[in-house]
Amino acid sequence: MKGLILSGGKGTRLRPITYTSAKQLVPVANRPVLFRVLDAMVEAGITDICIVVGDTAAIIEAAVGDGSAWGAKVTYVHQESPLGLAHAVKISEEYLRGDSAASASEAASASEFVMFLGDNVIEGGITSLVEQFTASDWNAQIVLKQVENPQQFGVAELQDGRIVRLVEKPKHPPSNLAVVGIYMFDHHVFEAVNAIEPSWRGELEITHAIQYLIDKGHRVYPYVHEGWWIDTGKMEDMLEANRLILDTNESRMEGFVDADSKVNGKVVIEKDAEIINSTVRGPAIIGERTRVVNAYIGPFTSIYHDCLIAECEIEHSMIMEHCKIEDIHHRIEDSLIGRHVEIVRSPAKPRAYKMVLGDHSKVGIL
Ligand code: TTP
Repeated sequence: MKGLILSGGKGTRLRPITYTSAKQLVPVANRPVLFRVLDAMVEAGITDICIVVGDTAAIIEAAVGDGSAWGAKVTYVHQESPLGLAHAVKISEEYLRGDSAASASEAASASEFVMFLGDNVIEGGITSLVEQFTASDWNAQIVLKQVENPQQFGVAELQDGRIVRLVEKPKHPPSNLAVVGIYMFDHHVFEAVNAIEPSWRGELEITHAIQYLIDKGHRVYPYVHEGWWIDTGKMEDMLEANRLILDTNESRMEGFVDADSKVNGKVVIEKDAEIINSTVRGPAIIGERTRVVNAYIGPFTSIYHDCLIAECEIEHSMIMEHCKIEDIHHRIEDSLIGRHVEIVRSPAKPRAYKMVLGDHSKVGIL
C-alpha cells in the first residue's frame, strides 16, 4: 500500500508564517506537523510515499528529502495551484496506480492508498485504520470524528454501517460525524476524480469524489476515530495541537539545568539546551541549543532550537527556531512566533515601539 500526503495549498489562514514557509513545517511540540504525518505512515508500515507540493515545494523537499530519515521512499508531485484535494489525487494517479508489469489483480490491490492531509495531527496514528481497510473488501474508508458543531464540517450520513451521503456544512446535520483529513481508497477513486466537475469555489472536492463512489454503488465505510484530531489550519489549532502533544510527552532531560533553576511537571529539555536561573513548568519542551536565562517558561509552551529566552515570561505559546526574546516585562501568552524573530526591549530613549512586521502580523500591545 502507498501513502499520499497533501502539502500544497495556500495556507492563507496561517499568514504571515506561510509567506515564508509551509504550515506543514510548523514544529508542533518541536516536531513539524508533516514529520508527524510521515511518522504515522511509517509506523503503519507504509514506506512508499508521495507528497503533493505547491508553492512551498522547495522548502518541503529540503526538509523531507528522499525520506531515508524515516526509512521510507518519498517522491513528490507538483500541483501548479491548489485546485482541490481531489485534484491532488488526480495528478498523483500515475504514481498511485500499481506497477503496470503486475497482473491486473496485483495492480488493483497495489493501487490502494491512504491519503493524509499534511496539516492534520491525529492521536494514536493510523495503524488500526490501515489494518482494517486491508482486511476488508471495501473500496474506500473515511475517517470520521464525533464533533459538537457538525454545522462547520463535512458530515457523513450512515445507514447499516455504510456511508450513504456526505454533506458540506449542513444546517441540519444528519449526524455529528465530521470528515477528518484521512482517507483510504482503492483504484475506483481515479474514475471519480476524473469524472467530477469543480465546485462553486473552483476546486475538485474530495467529498464529491466520495459521493460519486457511493452513487456508483461502491462500498464506502466509515472509521470512527476515538482520540483527538486537529486540523492545524489556524493559529489557535496549532496551539491546541501543541498543547495536546505536550501533554502526552514523557519528561526527558538531555540538556543542562543549573542549581538555581526549577523544572516541574512534564518537561523535555533537548540536547545542549541550557536552563539558567529560570523556572520551567510543564508540559513544555525546550529545543536543542536553546538558552533560557532568568526566565519563566509556563505550561503548554514549546521553544524550538537555537533560541535565546532571557529576562521574560512565556506561557501557552510556540516559538520557532533562532528567536531572541529578551527583557520583556509583560508575559507573552497564546502566541505563535516564527523563525528568527527578535523581541527585545528598546533602549531607554526614545521610549517607542520599534517594529519590522511582515504582512498580516498581529501584535497585542499593553
Ligand atoms: P486546506 O487547509 O483546506 O487549504 P490551505 O492549505 O490552502 O489553507 P487555507 O484554507 O488557510 O488557505 O488544505 C488542507 C491540506 O491539503 C493542506 O495540507 C494543504 C493541502 N492541499 C493540497 O495539497 N492541494 C490543494 O489543492 C488543497 C486545497 C489543499
